[in-house]
Amino acid sequence: MVNFDYKSLVTEELGRAYVTTVKILNTAHLPQNDVLMRVKYSSVNYKDALSATGNKGVTKKFPHTPGIDAAGVVVRSKVESYKAGDEVIVSGYDLGMNTPGGFGQYINVPSEWVVPLPKGLTLKESMIIGTAGFTAGISTHRLTQLVKPHDGKIVVTGATGGVGSVAISLLSKLGYQVIAVSGKASEHDYLKKLGATEIISRNDFQVSDGKAVSSARFAGGIDTVGGVILENIIKSLHPLGAVTTCGSVSSTQLNISAFPFILRGISLIGISAQNYPFELRKVLWDLLSDNWKPTNLMEIYTEISLEEVDNALSDILQGKLKGRVIVNLGL
Ligand SMILES: NC(=O)c1ccc[n+]([C@@H]2O[C@H](COP(=O)([O-])OP(=O)(O)OC[C@H]3O[C@@H](n4cnc5c(N)ncnc54)[C@H](OP(=O)(O)O)[C@@H]3O)[C@@H](O)[C@H]2O)c1
Repeated sequence: MVNFDYKSLVTEELGRAYVTTVKILNTAHLPQNDVLMRVKYSSVNYKDALSATGNKGVTKKFPHTPGIDAAGVVVRSKVESYKAGDEVIVSGYDLGMNTPGGFGQYINVPSEWVVPLPKGLTLKESMIIGTAGFTAGISTHRLTQLVKPHDGKIVVTGATGGVGSVAISLLSKLGYQVIAVSGKASEHDYLKKLGATEIISRNDFQVSDGKAVSSARFAGGIDTVGGVILENIIKSLHPLGAVTTCGSVSSTQLNISAFPFILRGISLIGISAQNYPFELRKVLWDLLSDNWKPTNLMEIYTEISLEEVDNALSDILQGKLKGRVIVNLGL
């Protein structure tokens, strides 16, 4: 069997510090799963930064190659469903957590993690969507089952981030009126271009009014940050409103009473992209490549090289990234 040397980002544990550098590895040392794939593009997600800074809830053993997203071409396959040359996507499951991830030019993964690239997307576009955009897709799918455009406004938090940007674009494409909550005063034009009709300053929305239930302002929400911001959305939903929660950039804690649920009948919907079932995953990728393909995909991304990923990982931890950052693996 032919093996290849390749470039990969590697995070090493040095005492209490975690150091991430580009190294040359060989495919002989990858896990020997069903599908060996040459990675053309990956993308930067919040979880990658957690992995590269030693968060043991994400990655237990180092040295390790992060990267929860990968799009590329099959090199060899042990299963009939994939053959050399097929263009494919892998996102979620254990990729980049404890399995070497998409910040390496090759990955070797179980075939059940592999999704054929849908016809309406290029490899690059699939990574502009990536896990963050896919999560926006799941959130939109779940929310729109309960809340319709005529019910009222939808609030999206972490608005300039990866999940937030795609969620705004998707919701406005589907006819919803979107209010963005953002900490970046300089990015209001960007948010309006994505489809937001109103913008609330994150500082103004991050204060609790101390009430169990607040006046009803939103029919629904897609929250990516948690904490007081999510508490405020829950307390401000219309009767039968709904909000999805996928992230905890601000806090993992929620301090709310049961009143919004039992007085207004609202729903809090948890979102997990990592283990989203395979059949539903394929359906959602197809939707995102077709009717739900975000209109402004080419305006929400920055492309970087493997050598620039470490800086992007520290930026995402500080909430500095805008939109999606994709990684060109240079193969
Ligand atoms: N459950 C899942 O399956 C799943 C999947 C993907 C992502 N996630 C999670 O979703 C979250 C967002 O991911 P992402 O890729 O969109 O990250 P991101 O690109 O870094 O976006 C996060 C955004 O949150 C806002 N923000 C930053 N610091 C904040 C703070 N201290 N308080 C409140 N808001 C803050 C910023 O937007 P503004 O400046 O515009 O406010 C930032 O751009 C992360 O926690 C990630 O782990 C979960």
